[in-house]
Amino acid sequence: MQELVKRLENTVEFLKEKLNQIPEIAIILGSGLGSLADLITDKVEIPYEIIPGFPVTTVAGHEGKLIAGNLRGKRVLAMKGRFHYYEGNEMDSVVYPIRVFKKLGIEKIIVTNAAGGVNKEFKPGDLMLITDHIGLFCENPLRGENPDELGPRFPDMTMAYDREVQKLALNCAEKAGIELKTGIYCYCKGPSYESPAEIRAIRVLGADAVGMSTVPEVIAARHMGMKILGISCITNMAAGILDQPLDHKEVMETGKMVERKFSGLVSEIVSCWG
Ligand code: HPA
Repeated sequence: MQELVKRLENTVEFLKEKLNQIPEIAIILGSGLGSLADLITDKVEIPYEIIPGFPVTTVAGHEGKLIAGNLRGKRVLAMKGRFHYYEGNEMDSVVYPIRVFKKLGIEKIIVTNAAGGVNKEFKPGDLMLITDHIGLFCENPLRGENPDELGPRFPDMTMAYDREVQKLALNCAEKAGIELKTGIYCYCKGPSYESPAEIRAIRVLGADAVGMSTVPEVIAARHMGMKILGISCITNMAAGILDQPLDHKEVMETGKMVERKFSGLVSEIVSCWG
């Protein structure tokens, strides 16, 4: 475990040299939010492969970089390309960047994702503020020895998603004239989409949206005491809700269509946060 702490220190030292200032807010750009990076000015781009200690993606064609800069007057550090569990990454790698962000001195994080709508009132293109999550199907990223430097052995998840920031996000959305739904995000491992029976079960459990990311990162961020805001882009109705198969192409297309709205909302929130 001391090995992990040493590795983190190494990564952080490198990034401190690369960055002029410590960012205030980290943003994980889910699919459908890539264009937020275009709104960042005075950019410093750091490809993952040159960062010591950073996990390496084995997935061909997956761009991975950190983008530091200014967004609406705030210093941000955006992560373009995340490490998914379904790609074969170990949980340690999935959450490594989060630990780096906190060790760098970043206290706030915005986590975004594409998700399937489980709540039948939702429609593709909706944005959903995550109020809580269901991570029962997720291997816990904190499993194993706990380095006390990172956080407690049994971290509380009662208020994983910061309530004040949720209010702020809803206010920002209203001001910007963007409808923002609220709901519970359920993690499923993927990479196959869920079956209709799984979606019915997940709905009974209380989920409004389903996706293959975010929960591990949120658990690691909360473990370290970060303030977290989560937003899902509902790219499709989850399996079995419509009488048609899911089509990954459609998921990507909806993501693209909503990109401007999504980027607009997130940048508005960034400008108001803190
Ligand atoms: N299920 C899981 N992950 C997803 C979905 C879905 O329907 N849509 C986008 N990501």
